[in-house]
Amino acid sequence: MAEFTLPRNSRVQEGRTFKAQEGAKNIRRFRVYRYDPDSGQNPRMDTYEVDMDRCGPMVLDALLKIKNEVDSTLTLRRSCREGVCGSCAMNIDGTNTLACTHDTKDIKGDVKIYPLPHMPVIKDLVPDLTHFFAQYATIKPWLQTETPPPDRERLQSKEERAKLDGLYECILCACCTTSCPSWWWNGDRYLGPASLLQAYRWIVDSRDEAAGERLDELQDPFKLYRCHTIMNCTRTCPKGLNPAQAIAEVKKLILEREH
Ligand code: SF4
Ligand code: SF4
Ligand code: FES
Repeated sequence: MAEFTLPRNSRVQEGRTFKAQEGAKNIRRFRVYRYDPDSGQNPRMDTYEVDMDRCGPMVLDALLKIKNEVDSTLTLRRSCREGVCGSCAMNIDGTNTLACTHDTKDIKGDVKIYPLPHMPVIKDLVPDLTHFFAQYATIKPWLQTETPPPDRERLQSKEERAKLDGLYECILCACCTTSCPSWWWNGDRYLGPASLLQAYRWIVDSRDEAAGERLDELQDPFKLYRCHTIMNCTRTCPKGLNPAQAIAEVKKLILEREH
């Protein structure tokens, strides 16, 4: 019988513990994944005790407090700290979400923090998003037109504009794509929910004149049809969007034009 073993460096070891300052009364424990591929060492879970009486409410507040005051080697991405840039996406308490909008109070027990799953780790909580954004680029996320540009903006009716609601808000955080089992297994060829939601965003934009070509590109057993409506994507989206529905709409449009 075939035997499978995990690569040696996939075993996560117990790391260091950083105690809270003496006298702290409101302590939460943050268990944080640490990994530096260049070090040759296995990943580890470090434990940081944080005095919540001296810390902001969000998970990102705690991570920045740890980085600023306890352990400057902790590596993470963040920019806007208000849920609009998508940089601080990570796996918190078992769910892909944004650290800056996730309230520590909503988590019971230790706060467990990992990088987004199923992506190479550059360091600690920073995944390599190169492939994710390369897939995004393949859907040509810009307005494509053939008619000559008008003298002023290309106008939309209110109804046409409303079709972009629930789509334009996507911040490309990758929470959905990295929660999708179909993308885990076929991520080399399946585009995943974020890129497909974005593709639909351009297909239904009344100003775009390349819907036919866009659908041609997606009509592929792997790029689109690996979605099996498992719904992890919609469940995890921190912006409350519904990529699974957008994917279903693309499939419907392809079906409609065939009949
Ligand atoms: S659909 Fe939601 S989870 Fe997916 S990339 Fe966009 S904002 Fe993030
Ligand atoms: S609905 Fe489709 S895209 Fe969303 S998690 Fe399931 S398989 Fe992935
Ligand atoms: S820091 Fe921008 S979304 Fe969290």
